[in-house]
Amino acid sequence: MGLFRKKMKAAHKAMLQAERAGGALMPEYHRATPECPHPERWSMYDSMTAEVEVLEFLRTLVTTVKPGLIVETGAFLGVSTQWFAQGLKINGRGRIISCEYDPVIFEKCKENIASSGLSDWIELRQESSLEMKIEGAIDLFFSDSDVPIRGEEVRRFLPQISPYGLILMHDASSHLKHVREAALQLEDEGLISVVMLPTPRGLVIAQKLDGRERHPSKRSAA
Ligand SMILES: C[S@@+](CC[C@H](N)C(=O)[O-])C[C@H]1O[C@@H](n2cnc3c(N)ncnc32)[C@H](O)[C@@H]1O
Repeated sequence: MGLFRKKMKAAHKAMLQAERAGGALMPEYHRATPECPHPERWSMYDSMTAEVEVLEFLRTLVTTVKPGLIVETGAFLGVSTQWFAQGLKINGRGRIISCEYDPVIFEKCKENIASSGLSDWIELRQESSLEMKIEGAIDLFFSDSDVPIRGEEVRRFLPQISPYGLILMHDASSHLKHVREAALQLEDEGLISVVMLPTPRGLVIAQKLDGRERHPSKRSAA
């Protein structure tokens, strides 16, 4: 079986598991890592949806920085999309555009969002993150699609990300490697500055360096 079909199958299996669990919380499944030796202290709905504590953090980030536009790659069942949207609803402004390329998962996600009461804040697209076109400046970018392409996604959207915006890359644990290395590579190239949160699956918070000024007010005064 090709790698692509194998990944699709794994995602469908995770979707069925999530449906069977019916929203019940479980201890986090990810193995211990040097940076997060007790993953069982965290909770999860399923192995694809971000850890519950990370979801809470995402909503709080939204209420903290009040983004106008959030872009998410990899909606899966729309759980993180809805947590972002809850933050937008509390703020009373902004929107989230999220994409999911798998047609079966997309349909389920669409249903979930339709019944969430948060549809006004969400634009869900059935397309690949590597083809998705976004208009305008992105204030918060959440990369959570296929692990090996996360670096490519950030590179693709970087010119549109606001210098005051935030870039989040999920699954950056030392065990998963790909995302961590992609983030550090982008940092080595002087494109972004990275902080790695030691959560079970790992979360990178980054900001782009281009456009960062020490004293922006002095520039406008000059
Ligand atoms: C880890 S799950 C996303 C979990 C979700 N963000 C959450 O926390 O609730 C990854 C999802 O990305 C989708 N995906 C993978 N590659 C993609 C791509 N290039 N474009 C859009 N979706 C993609 C997969 O089908 C899967 O549903």
